[in-house]
Amino acid sequence: MTGRYQDIYARSINDREGFWAEAAESLVWYQKWDRVLDDSKAPFYRWFAGGMVNTCYNALDRHVEAGRGEQAALIYDSPVTDTVQTFTYRQMRDDVARLAGALQAQGVGKGDRVIIYMPMIPQAAQAMLACARIGAIHSVVFGGFAAHELATRLNDAKPVAILTASCGIEGSRVIAYKPLLDRAIEQASHKPQKVLVFQRPQATASLIDGRDLDWQAACEGAQPAECVPVAATDPLYILYTSGTTGQPKGVVRDNGGHMVALNWSMKNIYGVGIGDVYWAASDVGWVVGHSYIVYAPLLAGCTTVLYEGKPVGTPDAGAFWRVISQHRVKVLFTAPTAFRAIKRDDPDARLMQDYDLSCFEALYLAGERSDPDTLQWAEKHLAVPVIDHWWQTETGWSICANPRGIELLPVKYGSPTVAACGWDVRVVDEGGKEVGAGKIGALVVKLPLPPAALPTLWQNDERFKSSYLAEYPGYYATGDAGFIDEDGYIYVMSRTDDIINVAGHRLSTGAMEEVLSGHPDVAECAVIGVHDDLKGQLPLGFLVLKSGVDRDGDEIVREVVAMVRDQIGPVAAFKQATIVDRLPKTRSGKILRKTMRSIADGEAWNPPATIDDPAILPEIAEALRDIGYAKPV
Ligand code: COA
Ligand code: AMP
Repeated sequence: MTGRYQDIYARSINDREGFWAEAAESLVWYQKWDRVLDDSKAPFYRWFAGGMVNTCYNALDRHVEAGRGEQAALIYDSPVTDTVQTFTYRQMRDDVARLAGALQAQGVGKGDRVIIYMPMIPQAAQAMLACARIGAIHSVVFGGFAAHELATRLNDAKPVAILTASCGIEGSRVIAYKPLLDRAIEQASHKPQKVLVFQRPQATASLIDGRDLDWQAACEGAQPAECVPVAATDPLYILYTSGTTGQPKGVVRDNGGHMVALNWSMKNIYGVGIGDVYWAASDVGWVVGHSYIVYAPLLAGCTTVLYEGKPVGTPDAGAFWRVISQHRVKVLFTAPTAFRAIKRDDPDARLMQDYDLSCFEALYLAGERSDPDTLQWAEKHLAVPVIDHWWQTETGWSICANPRGIELLPVKYGSPTVAACGWDVRVVDEGGKEVGAGKIGALVVKLPLPPAALPTLWQNDERFKSSYLAEYPGYYATGDAGFIDEDGYIYVMSRTDDIINVAGHRLSTGAMEEVLSGHPDVAECAVIGVHDDLKGQLPLGFLVLKSGVDRDGDEIVREVVAMVRDQIGPVAAFKQATIVDRLPKTRSGKILRKTMRSIADGEAWNPPATIDDPAILPEIAEALRDIGYAKPV
């Protein structure tokens, strides 16, 4: 491949320090770095060591001081509350400074952790920025997680304060957040000192004297806080993501490298800049929300859209077109599942005709594999480039994308195109040896990772090493398998671990198994991800009951479904389980989840050579057929 992308990419790998130092020049530093890339403690690399910055300053104040104070920074569009509200850069800075002052008044300072458990309202973005302003480390927990998951994060992050709201709104349902939060604090061994509660009109939360404060009142009385300089290598946030066990991984993001890479990505990957309207239809609880609802668009001086609604049902499958046309959105970023939902409800995109989409330039998809059907449907109806790009919570931005801002490369369906600048992506076999073009293997990234990628896991360097660096020394293991073709196009095929992807949300089957095995009647269990036309995958449980249990099986299934909802949360979408006599295993006792998944999805399968008792597989197939799976495709 030759061309503009190829030259820029080659420089990003061969002259990393020069490349990223140049990108860093467009941001404001209190003090420049001593070293662009500090490799003195490899494999722990640090970007912009010695530099002093403030991410909030660069995202808000910098624009106000440059005369862009009256430009829209954030448009809150909430069909579920019938609200559209615009915040200028000046308003955002002032609101954030006051909230930051309110946090300081409660004793929150540099390095302290703050949990944010909020729905999709502007105050969620302001909460993140307020922490950044005073050097506190935020950790946003997605609203669809249950109290138990929240408690796990409280114990790990040990926050001094929590920021929350009285409720979230899911379609037409009002979900009270405060009772969930109170339960989580009750369950957690670590207790935060203060809880700030934003009262929404749809539900009023009761406050606990001495611990809980009314958000609005706290801000009214607060002194606006100045931006606090922090080291470029200081953590900006922790974002917990599913690992293979019930204990989530606390992905750490630094300040300096993060703002440099994200700011660079807006121009070079998304092709947007100052004043452009950019919309990531995700949730602030996910990495996409962190990077592309809040930080990147504001760092780049764009107008970001914060949408509290669904792709369908709020009120219909024309919702996305309405938002694009009403706010003159140039670029939309969402998960393929959202488009599958729209396509299902409005297959001919009739609702699109009602809106003027002339402002719209490109659609970006990520979070799960983009099925060519959905991608082509979007291309056909929107008549703009539709770009699949690959990334992870750990990476903070795309590992692989069509770099539209540099050069739009030809699309190959099924491939998120090429490695993004700074990402040296390779494919290796089980022994860690690189394989040739077209050969499937583990997708890995040669170290060092570019800025914004995780420097470590929160207070757990060992787990960082064992999870990502130990398997293939010198490389970061993405946990995805795939191949690179002869043109350098990367194909991401599947996970190599027990992570599944449900509606673009990453979930751990191991965590669900931990819940199921807590049921008193369950002796053994397995959870696999089965194909679902809308959500990509859905979790499905297999239960082996303890001998002597003769209760109604349906009742036990209902109980385990309720347990997963109660302990992990509705976002797990765990609704189906089946009771079997035994589970297929290897001779060394490993459950054959991959084979079970192939059977469930109706794919061709052969008993693996290591299987202990092949006679179990037909029993599994029968159990699956009874609940509507294992049909040949
Ligand atoms: N707070 C409380 N509950 C939540 C929640 C939140 N923030 N987000 C989701 N839930 C609940 C949902 O209400 C649903 O509950 P239910 O079982 O009672 O119906 C459950 O969690 C599962 O949610 P979800 O998987 O999102 O399914 P859905 O049926 O509500 O919507 C889609 C399906 C495809 C429309 C939806 O997943 C979507 O818009 N996805 C867009 C992709 C996206 O945001 N990806 C993030 C990464 S880019
Ligand atoms: P998350 O950390 O929630 O962003 O999930 C990351 C995982 O989602 C990746 O490791 C992949 O398995 C999957 N993923 C994300 N984007 C893509 C994509 N464009 N194509 C295929 N898989 C993807």
